Amino acid sequence: LKEIHEQAAVSAELLHWLESAQTVTPILERIQKARHLYLVGCGTSYHACLAGAVYFGSIAGRPAVPVLAPQFIAQYAPALSPKDVGIFVSQSGETKDVLNAIEAARRSGMTIYGLVNVIGSTLTQISERWLPLVCGYEISVPATKTFTNQVIAFLYLALHMGNVPPSSLARLPELMEQTLEKVEPQISLLEQYFTESRDMYGLGYGSTYPIALEGALKLKEVTYIHCEGMLSTEFKHGPLSAVDEGYPIIFIAGPEDVPLIVSGVNEVTCRGARAIVIAEENRQIRSNATNMITLPPAGSLFLPVTSIIPLQLLSYRLSVARGYD
Ligand code: BG6
Repeated sequence: LKEIHEQAAVSAELLHWLESAQTVTPILERIQKARHLYLVGCGTSYHACLAGAVYFGSIAGRPAVPVLAPQFIAQYAPALSPKDVGIFVSQSGETKDVLNAIEAARRSGMTIYGLVNVIGSTLTQISERWLPLVCGYEISVPATKTFTNQVIAFLYLALHMGNVPPSSLARLPELMEQTLEKVEPQISLLEQYFTESRDMYGLGYGSTYPIALEGALKLKEVTYIHCEGMLSTEFKHGPLSAVDEGYPIIFIAGPEDVPLIVSGVNEVTCRGARAIVIAEENRQIRSNATNMITLPPAGSLFLPVTSIIPLQLLSYRLSVARGYD
């Protein structure tokens, strides 16, 4: 809970650091010339890679391949070349799966960059260049503040690469603070619907797809409830058949995706599911969802950063409510 509440402060630290960093420009120049750009990580760090790929593609017009570290070896190692760049993402900088992927990358001669929290870790020692996450110690194994800073670092790089002035990022720390204040009381009202659940889904689309996966991981890791994250449009291709009375499904909706998410909501509520939608205030969502968790208005650019906060809090509250230390 302490680390969840530190997120706004460490995001300000990161933005401040990035503004004066000498390493950002050479990294961006190299990425721009790369044949392929791979974003590689495990667990939460991989979910940040997914969000980074959405930002690089949609803001900077730079396709990026997000990939889980062990699969990077199996799928891409034979195809890598010195023309490629990999950004290896890790809170600890010590995750063996990530270090193994770097070993394979090294043999190909590709450029290796790191995005890492622990300075002095193996990842900082074996990367050509690295960017720090500037989060301070993260004691909790389920990552929170390092995830949001990983996502913000990718957003910063994508905005620069897309020649979009990153000045709008200055309001992000305050927005994160407002999000915490706004969602905390809403989560306490809703947690009663989940305490007995054994199984649930988190669904997102576009930039909230990685958030659905990350929210599901947080829920599994600290509440021991099985929760599966999925692209919302995939839900009708099979999993929909598992839905019955009261089945909890959390949707995360961007302002541009409202019609799509509402149609997904209706598909599950007509089978009796409880559809909880995390979104900015919206009349259409409010009248179709079973419950809504309202975010402060922020626009689609910042949505991955704000929308993970209620899912982190929900994981924490449910864990306490279920009696886990
Ligand atoms: C796992 C943790 O073991 O490692 C996850 O349970 C974490 O929470 C993952 O995201 C990756 O860790 P790191 O340090 O490489 O970001």
